[in-house]
Amino acid sequence: MSENPASPTTPSKPRVLSGIQPSGILHLGNYLGAISNWVADQAHYENFFMIADYHALTSVSDGAELRKNRREIVAMLLACGIDPQQSVLFYQSQLPEHTELGWIMTCLSPLGWLERMTQYKDKSAKYAQEGISTGLLTYPALQAADILLYQAQGVPVGEDQRQHVELTRDLAQRFNHLFGETFTIPQVFIRKEGAKVMSLTEPVRKMSKSDKESDGRIELLDSADVIRRKIRRAQTDSLREICFSDDPERAGVNNLLELYKILTHKEPATITAEFEGKGYGELKDAVADVVVAVVNPIREEYHRLLTDRAHIEQVMAGGKERAQAVARKTLGKVKKRIGMV
Ligand code: TRP
Repeated sequence: MSENPASPTTPSKPRVLSGIQPSGILHLGNYLGAISNWVADQAHYENFFMIADYHALTSVSDGAELRKNRREIVAMLLACGIDPQQSVLFYQSQLPEHTELGWIMTCLSPLGWLERMTQYKDKSAKYAQEGISTGLLTYPALQAADILLYQAQGVPVGEDQRQHVELTRDLAQRFNHLFGETFTIPQVFIRKEGAKVMSLTEPVRKMSKSDKESDGRIELLDSADVIRRKIRRAQTDSLREICFSDDPERAGVNNLLELYKILTHKEPATITAEFEGKGYGELKDAVADVVVAVVNPIREEYHRLLTDRAHIEQVMAGGKERAQAVARKTLGKVKKRIGMV
């Protein structure tokens, strides 16, 4: 083992890059869909994890809020188990390479490709009244730059980001074709398990941070009492039968069982046997127990870390340097290719 496994000069491990927006609320869906996978696989990859603060600017326009969110998300990622020895953790906005390559990618993006992105279409429909920032349209071009700067082989994300990674592949191929072989074509890494944690109140929809009422989601900062209350109120059905099912009518019970499965690593058959003859109340108590057991230590560690500003700053300064060494090299190559050097 080398002393510094995340060093950009270690070629033996495949490289991954992923990003997360500092947008306030993190919930169990974010944790199970992405963050817990980053943590679990840290030792197998050379990891770059980025706080996408420039992406957050498409929806936040309050400096104090963004400043607070940036620090909080770092504390949260560390509390979830991201290890700065194994992973390079950095703020996107600290590296001008991202916005530079972002512009180059924007110029390379046919308008139709960006207009076709479902996230863009959903948001522009949702906020049709107030209007949206142009940044929401060009958002995936900046995301492509984030990924391509590191020549990442893999991009571990939740299902909702698949389309953006596919666009990144298309842009990388387009660049390579027009200007010569430059970028690694990244693959999307999506784990089936945990990729879709559903809302507790509307279990046919994804658990989401943007739902106005918070009862549908378990936030990583919820207390044990709040978690238990939310799970106790989770929607079920009148069938009184505890089994996995893809019937939309049974989505509530199925979601509770899926959560239980992911968090206990038990087989579905073992789980159904465990709950045979039992009621939904017992299922909910069991799910609440395993959720609390995961969330409690994260919350406690988060609050401890948040008071240690010096540590957070030191981690981010180290991350910036290690990330920049890689990003700078790629951007230099790109600029030569496009005739800017
Ligand atoms: N768009 C991603 C999200 O909302 C965040 C992100 C920004 C990202 N840049 C990235 C994810 C690069 C993966 C790779 O979750």
